[in-house]
Amino acid sequence: MRTVYFGIFVHCLALADIQVLPSAAVGVDEDGTIEFLDQNARSAEASAEKHSWPVGSYSVVSSDPTSASFFFPGFFDTHIHASQYPNVGLFGKTTLLDWLNSYTFPLESSFSDLKVADDVYSRVIARTLGNGTTTAAYYATVHTAGTNLLADLALKAGQRAFIGRCCMDANSPDYYCDKDLEDAQKATLEVIEHITKIDPDHDIVCPILTPRFAASCSKELLSWLGKLSTDTNLPVQTHISENMLEVELVKSMHTFADSYAGVYDKCGLLHDKTILAHAVHLTDDERALIAKRGSGIAHCPASNSALTSGETRVKWLLDAGVKVGLGTDVSGGFTPSILHTARQALLVSRHLSMKGDESHKLSIEEVLYLATVGGAEVCGLADKLGNFLPGKKWDAQLITLDCKNSPVDIFPWELKTHEDLVAKWLFNGDDRNVTKVWVDGKLVAGTAFTS
Ligand code: GUN
Ligand code: ZN
Repeated sequence: MRTVYFGIFVHCLALADIQVLPSAAVGVDEDGTIEFLDQNARSAEASAEKHSWPVGSYSVVSSDPTSASFFFPGFFDTHIHASQYPNVGLFGKTTLLDWLNSYTFPLESSFSDLKVADDVYSRVIARTLGNGTTTAAYYATVHTAGTNLLADLALKAGQRAFIGRCCMDANSPDYYCDKDLEDAQKATLEVIEHITKIDPDHDIVCPILTPRFAASCSKELLSWLGKLSTDTNLPVQTHISENMLEVELVKSMHTFADSYAGVYDKCGLLHDKTILAHAVHLTDDERALIAKRGSGIAHCPASNSALTSGETRVKWLLDAGVKVGLGTDVSGGFTPSILHTARQALLVSRHLSMKGDESHKLSIEEVLYLATVGGAEVCGLADKLGNFLPGKKWDAQLITLDCKNSPVDIFPWELKTHEDLVAKWLFNGDDRNVTKVWVDGKLVAGTAFTS
């Protein structure tokens, strides 16, 4: 059945262009596609009539006019290791390379056990959906069966997900790696085949080619994946320039290229369906190359602070026309929430600006753009997701600030603008405020979700 959503809507149209619609209506058809956005609506019924939707042909979902609640687009997590969820908060004083060896590889290797995979993946999907993440770009592990299971679970839960099996045929521990190039190729193809079987059009779950990072792959594997992405048009995700020791390691391993970005480019992995996580230590030339190729960056501020990797210059990337979205990078990052990650992005940008260049500073509007439209661009989905424009899909969350047990205090005597309410949400809100979550027009999560 068609649905008219009525009430307050907040969404981002462009960087720093947030639109607050205090009384609007959105008409969503049976396929979950937005047919109309009525910016000034008296009621759901009046808007339906204006768009020739007969009485009885639609249902109505309203945000409660007596409460501080609004519809907001679903979040994009452009970089999350689903398998690392049990380790959130566990990193001690490590930095990337020793963190991988001491915390990460031992945990990921345990996903040869499908019971472990089932437990962790079920919880991470429930947790991210409950935090309003309607699209996630997941890294699983090196294991084929576990990766296939992650795809099954995301599809069942109704979360849009890119599912990547980690490719790692070089410089990786014996107990956790692809045995050789052929092993990596076979496993990669098996995962693509499985996901294509369960979701032939890749509408909800889509395979994503995942060379873990240049330091864990042979040139042959990187080149094979690059060719595969060209032949199949499948997206690619990997890490880039997260940590200085890693940058040096990649330089010493892959002498055929003159930069980290150059390694991926020479192997055919840098194109407009590529998601590059971190990009903390890029050079000007690498930024120009990434912009030219149309690849996107997953900015992971919580992770970059926790692992003391550095501060990604988001404005510097955007200024060059590079697409940027947000990633939790669980468990380098300690939070599965993109709202929390947006908060961290804002703070990291202020740390950069404290060094003397105010132009680095990101606003509330800008980080919410990165969390939605920016993420959609990075995932190659901006034509169908990211905001409430007609023709896009209804992937949305209903945020209620004055719900029971809300972490946000709203005082009855406050004369707050809607913009002020959004600011209070960004800095103090959490999943308790996520009342309902829809993907593709279907209700899939939220505190008011009953299946
Ligand atoms: N580089 C290679 N693997 C990883 C990972 O699992 N997490 C992060 N943050 N960086 C990586
Ligand atoms: Zn990562």
